[in-house]
Amino acid sequence: GIALGKLMADTGLVTLDPGFVNTASCSSEITYIDGDAGILRYRGYPIEQLAEKSNFIEVSYLLIYGELPTRQQLEEFSSKISRHTLLHEDLKRFFDGFPRDAHPMPVLSSAVSALSTFYQDSLNPFDEPNVDLSTIRLMAKLPTIAAYAYKKSVGQPFLYPDNSLGLVENYLRMTFGFPAEPYDVDPVLARALDLLFILHADHEQNCSTSTVRLVGSSEANLFASISAGINALFGPLHGGANAAVLDMLEDIRSNGSDVAEFVRKVKNKEAGVRLMGFGHRVYKNYDPRAKIIKKTADEILAKLGVHDELLDIAKQLEETALADDYFVERKLYPNVDFYTGLIYRAMGFPTKMFTVLFALGRLPGWIAHWREMINDPATKIGRPRQLYIGRTARDYVDMAGR
Ligand code: ACO
Repeated sequence: GIALGKLMADTGLVTLDPGFVNTASCSSEITYIDGDAGILRYRGYPIEQLAEKSNFIEVSYLLIYGELPTRQQLEEFSSKISRHTLLHEDLKRFFDGFPRDAHPMPVLSSAVSALSTFYQDSLNPFDEPNVDLSTIRLMAKLPTIAAYAYKKSVGQPFLYPDNSLGLVENYLRMTFGFPAEPYDVDPVLARALDLLFILHADHEQNCSTSTVRLVGSSEANLFASISAGINALFGPLHGGANAAVLDMLEDIRSNGSDVAEFVRKVKNKEAGVRLMGFGHRVYKNYDPRAKIIKKTADEILAKLGVHDELLDIAKQLEETALADDYFVERKLYPNVDFYTGLIYRAMGFPTKMFTVLFALGRLPGWIAHWREMINDPATKIGRPRQLYIGRTARDYVDMAGR
């Protein structure tokens, strides 16, 4: 690759590959995907096994450090995270400055970006103990920031973290609890959210992870790089798709639940309507994460005692699409986002928070990639070339002559 790159630079040739459909930007040992076979593995471990047997903290350790932790490593990692969950009181004041109806994603990215101003001692990307500290700070503080963003949006008081609780339990309490009132974490809810975080934890060189690596390739610190990744995730074609699926399902319901009519519109590309939560750049088969989520959506909704008409519409949509030549020919299957929104909704999260939940799950993957990138001797600053198709040289024209 490097030799070819040099040859092309010497000869003035460039590769044009919009959307990097067929261009690898790095080598990586973190996540393996076979999109045709629908396979996903973190550090070699199949996602199905991790979903069944592991938990989010352990998976985070695996992604970041490369191996499953021993009992002692796991205890140390999770107790360090518990001890860093508080936000600096001055950072808390940032939330007052945002409008009440602010979308929580830019609130999240702004607060993460601001961490660079609070932890100036740990910004050197090559100082490993400090990168470890920033890793812990991010893992610990992002759930607190996310919960505060939510509390701000509903006009409720913030809750300080309770460090006797695990990461997911703490996050649920800070989101749905009230100060000075007991909040019993529902174990069904906590396990479901933990599972969703595992399934979102990494997905190799997706748009937000590539953004984190690209920003980090300039040797920008971990907080700055992750903040950029959060902004990339905000878009409706990436993390924002889980919220867009819910909007789509609600639209279909308010138009009389006519699934066939909606699918017809999608096929005719009417007004740019897409079947949100369907299709993927890499998977040309059923997304293995969607398979696990579909199975658990029924279980979780039943356990939470929720019957959601939107789940029935989603299932009908899937059935109709998978039997239709348009989707079959283009190999469009449900992706991770197709069913997640329905679970988040059953848990009580408003649609605006869905992408924030994706960010909480994806954080260890972003961190793992940033660390791999910064430690890889082959890393160079990311600087793509272009094909210039503008005007050739011409002389300046005075105002009177235009
Ligand atoms: N609904 C209808 N048609 C679709 C869809 C869809 N969801 N996805 C792709 N297609 C069609 C395209 O119109 C195109 O057809 P054409 O050749 O007749 O023009 C063909 O399938 C190929 O699509 P591309 O847009 O070239 O595929 P690309 O790899 O660039 O896009 C993407 C992938 C962005 C995920 C796309 O499938 C999409 O927009 N899906 C809906 C949004 C979504 O669910 N995003 C979440 C992705 S997963 C994640 O971020 C976690």
